[in-house]
Amino acid sequence: MSRVQFPIHHTFGPLVTREQWKQAFYMQFKFWKWKNGKEKEELKEELEARFGEHATFFGSGRDALLATLRAIGITPGDEVILQGFTCGVVPNSIHAAGGVPIYCDIDPQTLNIDISKFHHTITSRTRAVICQHTFGIPAEAKKIKTICERRGIMFIEDCAHIIPDDGDKKQMSLLEAEAHAGGIGLHGDAVILSFGRDKAISGVTGGAVITKHIALAKVLNEEEKKASSISMWKIMHLIGYPIRYSFAKFLWKLPLGPILAKAYLRWIRKIGFLVPVLTKSEKQGRVNVLLKKMPNACAVLALQQLKDLHNLNNHRRKISNIYIEAASKSGWHMPEGTLKSIALQKFPVFARDAVGLRRDLKREEIYLDDGWCGAVVNPRNLDQESFGYAAGTCPISEDIAKHIVSLPTHPTMNEEQAKYLVHALRYYLG
Ligand SMILES: Cc1ncc(COP(=O)(O)O)c(C=O)c1O
Repeated sequence: MSRVQFPIHHTFGPLVTREQWKQAFYMQFKFWKWKNGKEKEELKEELEARFGEHATFFGSGRDALLATLRAIGITPGDEVILQGFTCGVVPNSIHAAGGVPIYCDIDPQTLNIDISKFHHTITSRTRAVICQHTFGIPAEAKKIKTICERRGIMFIEDCAHIIPDDGDKKQMSLLEAEAHAGGIGLHGDAVILSFGRDKAISGVTGGAVITKHIALAKVLNEEEKKASSISMWKIMHLIGYPIRYSFAKFLWKLPLGPILAKAYLRWIRKIGFLVPVLTKSEKQGRVNVLLKKMPNACAVLALQQLKDLHNLNNHRRKISNIYIEAASKSGWHMPEGTLKSIALQKFPVFARDAVGLRRDLKREEIYLDDGWCGAVVNPRNLDQESFGYAAGTCPISEDIAKHIVSLPTHPTMNEEQAKYLVHALRYYLG
């Protein structure tokens, strides 16, 4: 255990692999490629080959969601169903499109929409459902799709947390793909991807919509053309993210490293050199209705990770297996659906005192606050009502939010760290 590297974390550049660092470093000097370039086209071809459908790009997953809601013609007052225990950007996109978010409670074994409750959330105003595969655990997408078809509801599949590997549908039958990855990405009228910094693959920012409907793809193409470009200044900061976090990790290893690294990160955040994941106004439920284009520089990073997806997901499987072994030995409580995921973005477990656990481990340089704990609409410091959530609507989600602790599985987490974490958790779980 002596070779364990600290910090153990969720958010400290989780997808900044050596390869991504190199790509980001060289991209700093190729400013003519920042906005436009052939890599965005290559990423599109690669995604279309994997999913066998049309892909359009936007500045983030939340923009991709908003573009989709607009493209399917959400009008003021239309209801869009989403699950409890989600990220604030999802209801924000619904609000930005003029819709009303309607929360459906979750199944504690999958952390996804509870199909038995889904029926009760549908009304004559329901136009769409956003079905999330939380942390990569497959939702019951096939069943949801059947209900949507029967009721004339658009089915948006949110794959922000997972892109299945070995899922080239050109070579796999639908049945095989369903069996292989729980049908993730197969059933949605539109499938949303995010290339955010802690997602399935990272371009630091970016998002895509994949759809088999030609008419919908055309409208989305128009939305993509109309979207505004992210400024060169902001792109410079976005592609600087892998470099800045790598430097912080280097500082962490020095004497007084944690103090230096944290001070450095605080400082670059203060001077605006780190682009926040959620802006101040997004946290207040105020929504930017202007769509942004995905910068080519971010496509360069995302393309490299998409090509490496099998290795990235293999790594997640390897780390998850360490937790699964510990869970079965020590009787950890966890959602059963975890075992059905082909690659977990995070490994969820339940603790009686999740807050105390995180607080205690933080003293050992283990940071398990991933922003997905303590609230139905995350992060927990959001004013839930501004995001359309009324307390008591989703009791299971509220309970899960209190007890969930997520363990990192990301590509820069190594096996020694995972084993150390299991050791550190011995007094808290089981
Ligand atoms: C479930 C889910 N959907 C969509 C998004 C939006 O992704 P992005 O951060 O790229 O806007 C997120 C982001 O956290 C998410 O967790």
